[in-house]
Amino acid sequence: MCYSMRDWVNKLFIERSDLFLKIMNARWVRTAQLVDGMVRVLDDFGIKSGMLLDLYCGNGRVSVYMAEKGFRAIGVDMSRAFVEDAEAKAEEHGVSHRVRFLEGDVREIKQVVGRVSKPFDVVTNVWTSVGFYGVKADLSVFKQARQLSREGAILFIADTVHIEYLSLKFAPTSYAEFEDIVMLEDRKYDPMTAQAQTTWTFYKKMGQNLEFIDRAEIAHHVYSLSELCSLLKRAGWQAVASYGSLATLQPMNSLTGMNIVAKAV
Ligand SMILES: C[S@@+](CC[C@H](N)C(=O)[O-])C[C@H]1O[C@@H](n2cnc3c(N)ncnc32)[C@H](O)[C@@H]1O
Repeated sequence: MCYSMRDWVNKLFIERSDLFLKIMNARWVRTAQLVDGMVRVLDDFGIKSGMLLDLYCGNGRVSVYMAEKGFRAIGVDMSRAFVEDAEAKAEEHGVSHRVRFLEGDVREIKQVVGRVSKPFDVVTNVWTSVGFYGVKADLSVFKQARQLSREGAILFIADTVHIEYLSLKFAPTSYAEFEDIVMLEDRKYDPMTAQAQTTWTFYKKMGQNLEFIDRAEIAHHVYSLSELCSLLKRAGWQAVASYGSLATLQPMNSLTGMNIVAKAV
């Protein structure tokens, strides 16, 4: 089955937000280290507090941990279920007074955060939250984010898949478990178009057996480091560093993840 861009995003993040929420929850355990790394980088740029804009925030892990570090955060996501869960998580972590979650389309980010105090000191885009709507849409989002930020603000594009990695480590299938769910991934990658297409098939664990729940298709553009840095430059962000991991601040290479730090110029 072939899903258009709009279809897959709605299916995975809205219709089956219950399934994706389990996958996202599994990422919370590694968020403290990720945010520690961000805070270390920000410290080098003299940013110790301020306003954070968390693009495609999901259920709020980056906003919540950054709020624990003393930042004030606005997280934006299109999925009401994720925004509601993010609010509950902020409450649990005792940071509700420092974070605000808005349900909205990041492609219209200026409109979405229109009435909120600005400019932002930090912008985050975490966990392959680029390429969903194509290069033109990403350029527009980063331009808008730049307009909403002060000069010298820092943008993180973190934990993002990149072409160099896919070329070397492409795994056509994989398996993962999240709570009572088993997920099989079938991947395709077309180097001619830099388009990745993944099918996620979800099963519920039933004793020794698995019961089919649903299937979701994902299609997105995969960037190289240089392509993304050029795009950022066109949007008013100067890439200043890349890391394989923000948790360890190890250098990026073809076998690591992609994490970019860019400065508003
Ligand atoms: C891979 S998840 C990343 C979530 C979060 N950044 C994290 O690291 O846990 C991508 C997120 O983008 C959101 N999303 C996709 N398209 C969107 C859009 N046009 N506007 C706002 N959010 C969107 C989805 O609802 C989902 O929460």
